[in-house]
Amino acid sequence: MTQTTTARRRIFSGIKPSGHLTLGNYLGAVRRWVQEDQDNADALFCVVDLHALTVEHDPARVRRLTRQAATLLLAAGLDPERCTLFVQSHVDEHARLSYLMECTATDGEMRRMIQYKEKAARERSSGTSVRLSLLTYPALMAADILAYGTHEVPVGDDQTQHVELARDLAQRFNQRYGPVFTVPRATNPRISARVMDLQDPTSKMGKSHAETAGIVYLLDEPEAVRKKIMRAVTDSGTEVRYDRTAQPGVANLLDVLASCTDGKPEVLAGEFTSYGALKKATAEAVLELLRPVRARHAELCADPSYVEGVLRTGAERARGLARPRVDAAYAAIGLLPPA
Ligand code: TYM
Repeated sequence: MTQTTTARRRIFSGIKPSGHLTLGNYLGAVRRWVQEDQDNADALFCVVDLHALTVEHDPARVRRLTRQAATLLLAAGLDPERCTLFVQSHVDEHARLSYLMECTATDGEMRRMIQYKEKAARERSSGTSVRLSLLTYPALMAADILAYGTHEVPVGDDQTQHVELARDLAQRFNQRYGPVFTVPRATNPRISARVMDLQDPTSKMGKSHAETAGIVYLLDEPEAVRKKIMRAVTDSGTEVRYDRTAQPGVANLLDVLASCTDGKPEVLAGEFTSYGALKKATAEAVLELLRPVRARHAELCADPSYVEGVLRTGAERARGLARPRVDAAYAAIGLLPPA
Protein backbone atom coordinates (compact mmCIF):
# COMPACT_ATOMS: atom_id res chain seq x y z
CA MET A 1 0.00 0.00 0.00
CA THR A 2 1.64 3.22 -1.06
CA GLN A 3 0.64 6.39 0.70
CA THR A 4 1.65 9.72 -0.74
CA THR A 5 0.47 12.03 2.02
CA THR A 6 -0.17 11.43 5.68
CA ALA A 7 -3.44 13.40 5.77
CA ARG A 8 -5.21 11.39 3.09
CA ARG A 9 -8.95 11.02 3.20
CA ARG A 10 -9.93 7.68 4.72
CA ILE A 11 -12.68 5.62 3.13
CA PHE A 12 -14.20 2.48 4.59
CA SER A 13 -16.94 0.27 3.26
CA GLY A 14 -18.13 -3.28 3.65
CA ILE A 15 -20.13 -6.08 2.13
CA LYS A 16 -21.92 -8.85 3.97
CA PRO A 17 -21.42 -12.49 2.88
CA SER A 18 -25.05 -13.43 3.43
CA GLY A 19 -25.68 -14.38 -0.21
CA HIS A 20 -24.11 -14.19 -3.64
CA LEU A 21 -23.16 -10.68 -4.71
CA THR A 22 -25.73 -8.97 -6.91
CA LEU A 23 -25.89 -6.35 -9.61
CA GLY A 24 -27.24 -4.02 -6.88
CA ASN A 25 -24.07 -4.47 -4.81
CA TYR A 26 -21.97 -3.88 -7.89
CA LEU A 27 -23.69 -0.77 -9.23
CA GLY A 28 -24.56 0.68 -5.82
CA ALA A 29 -21.19 0.20 -4.17
CA VAL A 30 -18.42 -2.01 -5.55
CA ARG A 31 -17.95 -0.32 -8.92
CA ARG A 32 -17.33 3.01 -7.24
CA TRP A 33 -14.85 1.45 -4.81
CA VAL A 34 -12.93 0.19 -7.83
CA GLN A 35 -13.21 3.17 -10.17
CA GLU A 36 -12.95 6.06 -7.72
CA ASP A 37 -12.31 5.31 -4.08
CA GLN A 38 -9.18 3.19 -4.21
CA ASP A 39 -7.38 5.87 -6.21
CA ASN A 40 -8.63 8.96 -4.43
CA ALA A 41 -8.26 8.00 -0.80
CA ASP A 42 -6.72 5.61 1.66
CA ALA A 43 -9.48 3.06 1.23
CA LEU A 44 -10.31 -0.03 3.25
CA PHE A 45 -12.85 -2.61 2.10
CA CYS A 46 -14.10 -5.35 4.31
CA VAL A 47 -16.04 -8.58 3.93
CA VAL A 48 -18.13 -8.17 7.06
CA ASP A 49 -18.67 -11.78 8.05
CA LEU A 50 -19.80 -11.09 11.63
CA HIS A 51 -22.82 -9.30 10.18
CA ALA A 52 -23.81 -12.50 8.34
CA LEU A 53 -24.48 -14.20 11.69
CA THR A 54 -27.39 -11.94 12.62
CA VAL A 55 -29.90 -14.23 10.90
CA GLU A 56 -30.10 -17.99 10.66
CA HIS A 57 -27.05 -19.18 8.71
CA ASP A 58 -25.15 -22.24 7.65
CA PRO A 59 -21.53 -21.97 8.91
CA ALA A 60 -20.01 -23.68 5.87
CA ARG A 61 -21.95 -21.38 3.54
CA VAL A 62 -20.81 -18.24 5.35
CA ARG A 63 -17.19 -19.41 5.04
CA ARG A 64 -17.68 -20.14 1.34
CA LEU A 65 -19.43 -16.84 0.66
CA THR A 66 -16.75 -14.90 2.56
CA ARG A 67 -14.04 -16.33 0.34
CA GLN A 68 -16.20 -15.82 -2.73
CA ALA A 69 -16.97 -12.18 -1.88
CA ALA A 70 -13.28 -11.39 -1.38
CA THR A 71 -12.41 -13.11 -4.68
CA LEU A 72 -15.16 -11.22 -6.49
CA LEU A 73 -14.03 -7.88 -5.10
CA LEU A 74 -10.56 -8.55 -6.48
CA ALA A 75 -12.08 -9.75 -9.76
CA ALA A 76 -14.08 -6.52 -9.96
CA GLY A 77 -10.82 -4.59 -9.79
CA LEU A 78 -9.92 -3.85 -6.19
CA ASP A 79 -6.14 -3.76 -6.23
CA PRO A 80 -4.29 -4.68 -3.04
CA GLU A 81 -1.53 -2.28 -4.08
CA ARG A 82 -4.01 0.58 -3.94
CA CYS A 83 -6.39 -0.39 -1.14
CA THR A 84 -6.72 -2.66 1.88
CA LEU A 85 -9.03 -5.66 1.61
CA PHE A 86 -9.72 -7.86 4.63
CA VAL A 87 -12.22 -9.97 6.52
CA GLN A 88 -13.93 -8.36 9.53
CA SER A 89 -13.54 -11.30 11.95
CA HIS A 90 -9.77 -11.32 11.35
CA VAL A 91 -9.51 -7.97 13.12
CA ASP A 92 -10.67 -8.18 16.77
CA GLU A 93 -11.02 -4.41 17.05
CA HIS A 94 -14.44 -4.47 15.36
CA ALA A 95 -16.05 -6.62 18.05
CA ARG A 96 -14.12 -4.80 20.78
CA LEU A 97 -15.38 -1.41 19.71
CA SER A 98 -18.89 -2.64 18.99
CA TYR A 99 -19.54 -3.05 22.71
CA LEU A 100 -18.60 0.58 23.36
CA MET A 101 -20.98 1.59 20.59
CA GLU A 102 -23.74 -0.37 22.33
CA CYS A 103 -22.92 1.61 25.44
CA THR A 104 -23.28 4.84 23.46
CA ALA A 105 -26.42 4.10 21.44
CA THR A 106 -29.94 3.86 22.83
CA ASP A 107 -32.44 1.07 22.54
CA GLY A 108 -34.85 3.45 20.76
CA GLU A 109 -32.28 4.38 18.12
CA MET A 110 -31.67 0.75 17.28
CA ARG A 111 -35.36 -0.07 17.05
CA ARG A 112 -35.95 2.83 14.65
CA MET A 113 -33.63 1.38 11.99
CA ILE A 114 -35.65 0.56 8.88
CA GLN A 115 -33.63 -2.56 8.07
CA TYR A 116 -34.16 -3.91 11.57
CA LYS A 117 -37.91 -3.36 11.32
CA GLU A 118 -38.12 -5.00 7.90
CA LYS A 119 -35.86 -7.95 8.66
CA ALA A 120 -37.32 -8.58 12.12
CA ALA A 121 -40.83 -8.59 10.61
CA ARG A 122 -39.68 -11.06 7.94
CA GLU A 123 -38.10 -13.36 10.55
CA ARG A 124 -41.17 -13.24 12.77
CA SER A 125 -43.57 -13.93 9.92
CA SER A 126 -41.57 -17.02 8.97
CA GLY A 127 -41.77 -18.25 12.57
CA THR A 128 -38.05 -17.66 13.32
CA SER A 129 -37.01 -15.88 16.49
CA VAL A 130 -35.15 -12.61 16.02
CA ARG A 131 -31.53 -12.65 17.12
CA LEU A 132 -30.40 -9.89 19.47
CA SER A 133 -27.50 -9.20 17.11
CA LEU A 134 -29.99 -8.16 14.41
CA LEU A 135 -31.02 -5.31 16.70
CA THR A 136 -27.47 -4.35 17.69
CA TYR A 137 -26.12 -4.72 14.11
CA PRO A 138 -25.78 -0.93 13.60
CA ALA A 139 -23.52 -0.70 16.67
CA LEU A 140 -21.13 -3.17 15.04
CA MET A 141 -21.41 -1.31 11.74
CA ALA A 142 -20.60 1.97 13.53
CA ALA A 143 -17.57 0.24 15.07
CA ASP A 144 -16.46 -0.94 11.61
CA ILE A 145 -16.50 2.62 10.38
CA LEU A 146 -15.25 4.52 13.42
CA ALA A 147 -12.31 2.21 14.22
CA TYR A 148 -10.51 3.57 11.15
CA GLY A 149 -11.04 7.31 11.49
CA THR A 150 -13.19 7.09 8.37
CA HIS A 151 -14.25 10.29 6.57
CA GLU A 152 -16.44 8.78 3.87
CA VAL A 153 -18.50 5.62 3.55
CA PRO A 154 -19.51 4.81 -0.04
CA VAL A 155 -22.76 2.81 0.12
CA GLY A 156 -26.03 2.26 -1.67
CA ASP A 157 -28.86 4.29 -0.16
CA ASP A 158 -30.27 1.43 1.95
CA GLN A 159 -27.22 1.82 4.21
CA THR A 160 -27.36 5.59 4.60
CA GLN A 161 -29.45 5.45 7.77
CA HIS A 162 -26.88 3.17 9.43
CA VAL A 163 -24.04 5.51 8.48
CA GLU A 164 -26.01 8.44 9.91
CA LEU A 165 -26.33 6.55 13.15
CA ALA A 166 -22.55 5.97 13.15
CA ARG A 167 -22.21 9.73 12.72
CA ASP A 168 -24.47 10.43 15.70
CA LEU A 169 -22.61 7.91 17.85
CA ALA A 170 -19.23 9.42 16.95
CA GLN A 171 -20.45 12.89 17.90
CA ARG A 172 -22.06 11.70 21.13
CA PHE A 173 -19.00 9.72 22.19
CA ASN A 174 -16.69 12.65 21.42
CA GLN A 175 -18.87 15.05 23.40
CA ARG A 176 -19.08 12.78 26.42
CA TYR A 177 -15.58 11.38 26.58
CA GLY A 178 -13.31 13.50 24.40
CA PRO A 179 -12.40 13.68 20.72
CA VAL A 180 -11.59 10.10 19.74
CA PHE A 181 -13.56 9.59 16.52
CA THR A 182 -13.69 11.22 13.11
CA VAL A 183 -17.31 11.99 12.17
CA PRO A 184 -18.05 10.06 8.94
CA ARG A 185 -20.54 10.70 6.16
CA ALA A 186 -22.23 8.43 3.64
CA THR A 187 -21.75 8.94 -0.09
CA ASN A 188 -24.14 7.44 -2.66
CA PRO A 189 -23.68 6.91 -6.42
CA ARG A 190 -25.30 9.37 -8.84
CA ILE A 191 -27.54 6.65 -10.26
CA SER A 192 -28.26 3.11 -9.09
CA ALA A 193 -28.10 4.00 -5.41
CA ARG A 194 -31.01 1.56 -5.15
CA VAL A 195 -31.29 -1.10 -7.85
CA MET A 196 -34.73 -2.66 -7.60
CA ASP A 197 -35.78 -6.30 -7.89
CA LEU A 198 -36.65 -7.09 -11.51
CA GLN A 199 -39.78 -9.00 -10.46
CA ASP A 200 -40.86 -6.48 -7.82
CA PRO A 201 -39.56 -3.05 -8.78
CA THR A 202 -40.93 -1.53 -5.59
CA SER A 203 -38.44 -3.46 -3.45
CA LYS A 204 -34.64 -3.48 -3.41
CA MET A 205 -32.66 -6.15 -5.24
CA GLY A 206 -31.32 -7.92 -2.14
CA LYS A 207 -28.82 -10.78 -2.05
CA SER A 208 -30.52 -12.65 0.78
CA HIS A 209 -34.04 -12.61 -0.64
CA ALA A 210 -35.63 -16.01 -1.13
CA GLU A 211 -37.16 -15.26 -4.56
CA THR A 212 -34.27 -15.10 -7.02
CA ALA A 213 -36.00 -14.56 -10.40
CA GLY A 214 -35.66 -10.78 -10.08
CA ILE A 215 -32.07 -10.78 -8.86
CA VAL A 216 -29.04 -10.68 -11.14
CA TYR A 217 -26.05 -12.26 -9.43
CA LEU A 218 -22.56 -11.32 -10.58
CA LEU A 219 -21.76 -14.98 -11.17
CA ASP A 220 -24.96 -15.85 -13.04
CA GLU A 221 -24.40 -17.51 -16.41
CA PRO A 222 -24.90 -14.99 -19.26
CA GLU A 223 -28.00 -16.83 -20.44
CA ALA A 224 -29.55 -16.56 -16.97
CA VAL A 225 -28.80 -12.82 -16.84
CA ARG A 226 -30.41 -12.34 -20.24
CA LYS A 227 -33.49 -14.31 -19.23
CA LYS A 228 -33.96 -12.47 -15.93
CA ILE A 229 -33.74 -9.07 -17.59
CA MET A 230 -35.96 -10.03 -20.56
CA ARG A 231 -38.58 -11.25 -18.05
CA ALA A 232 -38.38 -8.14 -15.86
CA VAL A 233 -41.77 -6.85 -14.76
CA THR A 234 -42.56 -3.67 -16.63
CA ASP A 235 -45.60 -1.46 -16.25
CA SER A 236 -48.88 -1.38 -18.05
CA GLY A 237 -48.67 0.90 -21.07
CA THR A 238 -46.19 0.89 -23.90
CA GLU A 239 -44.44 4.23 -23.74
CA VAL A 240 -40.87 4.27 -22.39
CA ARG A 241 -40.77 7.09 -19.83
CA TYR A 242 -38.49 7.72 -16.86
CA ASP A 243 -40.99 8.00 -14.04
CA ARG A 244 -39.98 6.22 -10.83
CA THR A 245 -43.43 6.50 -9.27
CA ALA A 246 -45.72 5.75 -12.20
CA GLN A 247 -43.39 3.34 -14.02
CA PRO A 248 -41.02 1.82 -11.45
CA GLY A 249 -40.17 -1.26 -13.57
CA VAL A 250 -39.20 0.74 -16.65
CA ALA A 251 -37.39 3.34 -14.54
CA ASN A 252 -35.35 0.59 -12.88
CA LEU A 253 -34.25 -0.78 -16.26
CA LEU A 254 -33.37 2.73 -17.42
CA ASP A 255 -31.35 3.29 -14.25
CA VAL A 256 -29.45 0.05 -14.74
CA LEU A 257 -28.79 0.82 -18.40
CA ALA A 258 -27.68 4.37 -17.58
CA SER A 259 -25.45 3.13 -14.82
CA CYS A 260 -23.81 0.51 -17.06
CA THR A 261 -23.27 2.88 -19.96
CA ASP A 262 -22.60 6.05 -17.98
CA GLY A 263 -25.65 7.70 -19.51
CA LYS A 264 -28.66 9.58 -18.23
CA PRO A 265 -31.91 7.62 -17.66
CA GLU A 266 -34.11 10.52 -18.79
CA VAL A 267 -32.20 10.81 -22.07
CA LEU A 268 -32.07 7.07 -22.67
CA ALA A 269 -35.86 6.84 -22.29
CA GLY A 270 -36.22 8.81 -25.54
CA GLU A 271 -34.17 6.25 -27.45
CA PHE A 272 -36.61 3.34 -27.07
CA THR A 273 -40.02 2.80 -28.55
CA SER A 274 -40.72 -0.57 -26.92
CA TYR A 275 -40.10 -2.29 -23.60
CA GLY A 276 -38.60 -5.26 -25.44
CA ALA A 277 -35.89 -3.12 -27.03
CA LEU A 278 -35.11 -1.48 -23.69
CA LYS A 279 -34.78 -4.89 -22.01
CA LYS A 280 -32.53 -6.19 -24.77
CA ALA A 281 -30.22 -3.17 -24.57
CA THR A 282 -30.12 -3.41 -20.77
CA ALA A 283 -29.31 -7.12 -20.84
CA GLU A 284 -26.45 -6.57 -23.30
CA ALA A 285 -25.06 -3.66 -21.26
CA VAL A 286 -25.12 -5.70 -18.05
CA LEU A 287 -23.47 -8.67 -19.74
CA GLU A 288 -20.78 -6.42 -21.16
CA LEU A 289 -20.09 -5.02 -17.71
CA LEU A 290 -19.99 -8.39 -15.96
CA ARG A 291 -18.01 -10.33 -18.58
CA PRO A 292 -14.53 -9.25 -17.40
CA VAL A 293 -15.49 -9.69 -13.74
CA ARG A 294 -16.60 -13.28 -14.34
CA ALA A 295 -13.48 -14.05 -16.36
CA ARG A 296 -11.13 -12.63 -13.73
CA HIS A 297 -13.07 -14.45 -10.99
CA ALA A 298 -12.48 -17.77 -12.75
CA GLU A 299 -8.73 -17.00 -12.95
CA LEU A 300 -8.52 -16.04 -9.28
CA CYS A 301 -10.39 -19.18 -8.21
CA ALA A 302 -7.52 -21.16 -9.66
CA ASP A 303 -5.15 -19.39 -7.26
CA PRO A 304 -6.74 -19.39 -3.79
CA SER A 305 -3.40 -18.82 -2.06
CA TYR A 306 -3.19 -15.41 -3.75
CA VAL A 307 -6.55 -14.37 -2.28
CA GLU A 308 -5.55 -15.72 1.16
CA GLY A 309 -2.33 -13.73 1.01
CA VAL A 310 -4.20 -10.52 0.15
CA LEU A 311 -6.58 -11.06 3.08
CA ARG A 312 -3.71 -11.82 5.47
CA THR A 313 -1.81 -8.66 4.53
CA GLY A 314 -5.02 -6.64 4.58
CA ALA A 315 -5.92 -7.79 8.09
CA GLU A 316 -2.44 -6.99 9.36
CA ARG A 317 -2.64 -3.45 8.09
CA ALA A 318 -6.22 -2.99 9.32
CA ARG A 319 -5.26 -4.22 12.82
CA GLY A 320 -2.42 -1.75 12.98
CA LEU A 321 -4.72 1.11 12.01
CA ALA A 322 -7.64 0.22 14.28
CA ARG A 323 -5.82 -0.78 17.44
CA PRO A 324 -4.63 2.65 18.66
CA ARG A 325 -8.04 4.29 18.12
CA VAL A 326 -9.94 1.51 19.85
CA ASP A 327 -7.45 1.60 22.74
CA ALA A 328 -8.00 5.37 22.96
CA ALA A 329 -11.77 4.83 23.08
CA TYR A 330 -11.38 2.23 25.85
CA ALA A 331 -9.29 4.63 27.88
CA ALA A 332 -11.57 7.62 27.23
CA ILE A 333 -14.73 5.79 28.32
CA GLY A 334 -13.21 4.89 31.68
CA LEU A 335 -11.61 1.46 31.30
CA LEU A 336 -8.31 0.98 33.07
CA PRO A 337 -5.57 0.15 30.55
CA PRO A 338 -3.75 -3.13 31.24
CA ALA A 339 -0.50 -2.54 33.17
P1 TYM B 1 -24.77 -5.22 1.95
O1 TYM B 1 -23.85 -6.39 2.04
O2 TYM B 1 -26.23 -5.47 2.03
O3 TYM B 1 -24.50 -4.43 0.64
C1 TYM B 1 -23.18 -4.02 0.26
C2 TYM B 1 -23.27 -2.69 -0.47
O4 TYM B 1 -24.12 -2.81 -1.61
C3 TYM B 1 -25.16 -1.83 -1.56
N1 TYM B 1 -26.38 -2.40 -2.12
C4 TYM B 1 -27.10 -1.83 -3.08
N2 TYM B 1 -26.94 -0.69 -3.77
C5 TYM B 1 -27.85 -0.39 -4.71
N3 TYM B 1 -28.91 -1.19 -5.00
C6 TYM B 1 -29.12 -2.33 -4.34
N4 TYM B 1 -30.15 -3.10 -4.63
C7 TYM B 1 -28.19 -2.70 -3.32
N5 TYM B 1 -28.08 -3.77 -2.48
C8 TYM B 1 -26.98 -3.55 -1.74
C9 TYM B 1 -25.33 -1.52 -0.07
O5 TYM B 1 -25.93 -0.27 0.12
C10 TYM B 1 -23.89 -1.59 0.40
O6 TYM B 1 -23.22 -0.38 0.15
N6 TYM B 1 -24.56 -3.28 6.54
C11 TYM B 1 -23.90 -3.34 5.25
C12 TYM B 1 -22.50 -3.85 5.33
C13 TYM B 1 -21.62 -3.11 6.28
C14 TYM B 1 -21.00 -1.86 6.04
C15 TYM B 1 -20.23 -1.59 7.20
C16 TYM B 1 -21.04 -0.95 4.98
C17 TYM B 1 -21.23 -3.53 7.52
N7 TYM B 1 -20.39 -2.62 8.06
C18 TYM B 1 -19.51 -0.40 7.31
C19 TYM B 1 -20.31 0.21 5.09
C20 TYM B 1 -19.55 0.48 6.24
C21 TYM B 1 -24.67 -4.29 4.36
O7 TYM B 1 -25.39 -5.15 4.82
O8 TYM B 1 -24.37 -4.15 3.05
